[in-house]
Amino acid sequence: MASKSARSILQPLGPGALVLAVLALLAFHTGAFAAQQWHEPASADEAAVTFTRDVAPILQENCQICHRPGSVGPMSLLTHEQVRLYAPLIKDKVAAREMPPYHLDTGVGIQAIKNDWRLSEEEIATIVAWVDAGAPEGDPADMPAAVEWPDFRKWQLEDRLGKPDHVIKSKPFTVPAEGGDLWWRPRVETGLTEDRLVRALEVRPSFPAGRQAVHHAIPRLLSQNEEGEWVRTGSLSEYAMGKVGEILPADAARLLPANSMIEWDAHYYPMGYVIEDDQLELGLWFYPDGYEAEFTQNLRLYPLQGDIALAPGGTAMTQGFRRWDHPVRIDSFQPHGHVHLHAMSMEAIYPDGSRELLSMVSNFNARWHHSYIYDDDASPMLPTGTVLVLTAWYDNTEANPLTPDPEVWYSRGSRTTDEMSHAWLAITHLDEDSYERLVTERERKKEAGGQGSDGRN
Ligand code: HEC
Repeated sequence: MASKSARSILQPLGPGALVLAVLALLAFHTGAFAAQQWHEPASADEAAVTFTRDVAPILQENCQICHRPGSVGPMSLLTHEQVRLYAPLIKDKVAAREMPPYHLDTGVGIQAIKNDWRLSEEEIATIVAWVDAGAPEGDPADMPAAVEWPDFRKWQLEDRLGKPDHVIKSKPFTVPAEGGDLWWRPRVETGLTEDRLVRALEVRPSFPAGRQAVHHAIPRLLSQNEEGEWVRTGSLSEYAMGKVGEILPADAARLLPANSMIEWDAHYYPMGYVIEDDQLELGLWFYPDGYEAEFTQNLRLYPLQGDIALAPGGTAMTQGFRRWDHPVRIDSFQPHGHVHLHAMSMEAIYPDGSRELLSMVSNFNARWHHSYIYDDDASPMLPTGTVLVLTAWYDNTEANPLTPDPEVWYSRGSRTTDEMSHAWLAITHLDEDSYERLVTERERKKEAGGQGSDGRN
């Protein structure tokens, strides 16, 4: 603050004088600081957390992507006037880690995640202290410049990768003004007659309407089996509001087989106005023809087994187990369930019998779908013989605000009120040699002091 006002006062004197004066000021400040170190802050105001200096930068970075005009959030959080109105609610949501809506547990499992939306403990403490202090504005001069948002009509990966090599659209869908959640599942051909290896993908909703109304969308992959029936063989990507695209790890490619189909699975939410003929687009960036990927990666659904019998006021738990006959690397984890699912974990039982909790979501919310993509040096490496254990917990008690009626039984099914659960995992398939090599490379990097440990990027 001091340097800002000093600069504006000194500028008319010219650059040489400015440098001298700033040096003099700095010398003065350092001396003054040393002398004052043991004092309390000069006034309570000086120490207090303010909107313009402390809170606005956090909101810009973590909230405004959704909470601004034309985006999915129910209100804008741009100015002090707007934010002040919601201060107590913001404190609750942020302290409970319900906002930003990103539910990977902190403190357990792998924390190094790409595009991690979670706030740090320090950021949460800042917001809480600010609300507790009465949500003061502070010095307007401290307000950071407004964020310049990317052009959402463009592909978000375009600056890095250029335009996509191929675009697949969903069929047009008209979203009514009112009503509950809607699902749109049209099938469209990929239009590709040769196998292609995918390097990056991005699902793009229309702008501005689709950006508000599409909560999440998955382009599933369908292939023909020997009887000529179309069967789901995996998924290509996953979009949830606020997301950008996905670039695969440098050593992996996802196969898009020739003559396949995409079945869109899009979740729309009416926004109070009719949206005519909305379409989603899937942009694909391919490796060049003839390119040989070192490994293949696929994104697939892994089911949990067993009946789900959820008694009135009851809870339940199911598990799924999986073992491969070769080593694998897990690149991403996405729990999926309906309104009763409240937690899912993913654990590894290694061939020597030791166990590791890889990831845990204990506050699952069916309104939000996230694929947690591990940092390249943090993705779990599972040697041959490892058992992967998925565990899901369901809640039909009154404590679960999403259960339609805690007085009735629920069981497995695909309606929104039925229960189901599985995880989507992107898995890179390795052989013994490459497994050894990747593990050694990682260890070397770690010894050289490569990566940070808190997983924020
Ligand atoms: C990815 C989009 C997204 C991000 C990022 C996000 N929000 Fe939200 N927020 C929403 C949506 C959508 C809702 C409506 C409730 C729901 O769908 O869960 C909401 C609801 C809220 C509510 C409750 C409003 C009400 O009237 O009940 C508060 C408070 C809130 N957000 C604050 C924040 C803060 C603070 C941040 C950043 C630290 C943030 N949100 C980040 C999308 C987002």
